[in-house]
Amino acid sequence: LNSLLEHRSLHRAAPVLSRSIHSGTCASSTAASKLKVERPLSSEEIYAREDKYGAHNYHPLPVALERGEGIYVWDVEGNRYYDFLSAYSAVNQGHCHPKIIAALTSQASKLTLTSRAFYNNILGAYEEYITNLFGYDKVLPMNTGVEGGETACKLARKWAYNVKGVPKDKAKIIFANGNFWGRTMAAISSSTDPSSYEGFGPYMPGFELVPYNDIPSLEKALQDPNVAAFMVEPIQGEAGVVVPDQGYLTKIRELCTKYNVLWIADEVQTGLARTGRRLAVDHEEVRPDLVVLGKALSGGVYPVSAVLCDDEIMLTIKPGEHGSTYGGNPVACQVAIAALQVIEEEKLAENAERMGEVLRAELRKLPKDVVTTVRGKGLLNAIVIKETQDYDAWKVCLRLRDNGLLAKPTHGDIIRLAPPLIIKEHELQECVDIIQRTIMSF
Ligand SMILES: Cc1ncc(COP(=O)(O)O)c(C=O)c1O
Repeated sequence: LNSLLEHRSLHRAAPVLSRSIHSGTCASSTAASKLKVERPLSSEEIYAREDKYGAHNYHPLPVALERGEGIYVWDVEGNRYYDFLSAYSAVNQGHCHPKIIAALTSQASKLTLTSRAFYNNILGAYEEYITNLFGYDKVLPMNTGVEGGETACKLARKWAYNVKGVPKDKAKIIFANGNFWGRTMAAISSSTDPSSYEGFGPYMPGFELVPYNDIPSLEKALQDPNVAAFMVEPIQGEAGVVVPDQGYLTKIRELCTKYNVLWIADEVQTGLARTGRRLAVDHEEVRPDLVVLGKALSGGVYPVSAVLCDDEIMLTIKPGEHGSTYGGNPVACQVAIAALQVIEEEKLAENAERMGEVLRAELRKLPKDVVTTVRGKGLLNAIVIKETQDYDAWKVCLRLRDNGLLAKPTHGDIIRLAPPLIIKEHELQECVDIIQRTIMSF
């Protein structure tokens, strides 16, 4: 168990990348320019424009997309690609799913935002639908995944003080090494990845870390009577699709119950059919105390997130103590209902389970001297590329792009393979051919 103190010194020990404010190129001194849309820009021009006017907080693969439909996206030159990222699992239902777009457009022309100062006729319908579907008393609607995580942490702290009896300001939340739940100050304070936290201190107190997939360390941490919650991803997505041992989730449930600690399952990436079940925790048929959802809750058309839990936890937050102007707006609610219905009606969990088996079986035939590991569940998968002087995961992704398939490297040597869950077997076979051809070319 890393104490917070160790965590902080870990943050301090990491190298600080600093850049002088005088080291950049000169800012343009031209007067505010009009946005000209005279002719379509080439991909190269699109990269250059973003680079010039946008913050450099991402490193996109060089491809400039303008259209998406189902499992495909097209770039501005008209080239078609298989999307094997699905916007980090937000587009589980496929790009521009007609049912979700219809929900978006019909509600958008009727009533978009009331704020929560007033009631609207859609929010309650969504709340009833989602709580019945997942079997929790209540839902708290937010927008982005990280806001869902923040909400879950706030609920856990309130519950710790009001129900568990933790002394004021002493509540702790435990996280697992390698976690990723977003970019806010709280989320980076629990991160073990220097590129997330370095240079953004001071950090949120009351957070501690244990190794992932390590039950003895977790049990030791939970014995502290001030622990409010353990927040964990059932499979660590951004860490590179790290799948814990079978039984890990069951043990978490047992220990959290034993020590009166809330279990928060961060299902923002793993939830909503991605891993072959509606929730990834369903693989072990266990029920977390709080579930955080986001991403595919809107099928990629709108920022929608949610926290589900029962009354004992949810009702600790009173009017005025938490909220968001856009959270639970009518467009978001209609979109989320449609997105959830598509997952159920099209049996996307079942398809993800089946297609995932096919994909991993094929990937395991790849030469081991290039692809050292294949792992995943359902259609959340990753391959680990053995880096050499000639190639690395980035170069493999560039060549996959040239061959018509988009995927993104993570942590230098890992490539996540996560197509929309509507993919059919013959389409998957074509993708496997592209991946095989690409890998063999190295
Ligand atoms: C497990 C998990 N939680 C939370 C988040 C944050 O979601 P968002 O980027 O919508 O804030 C992510 C994003 O990748 C995630 O993978």
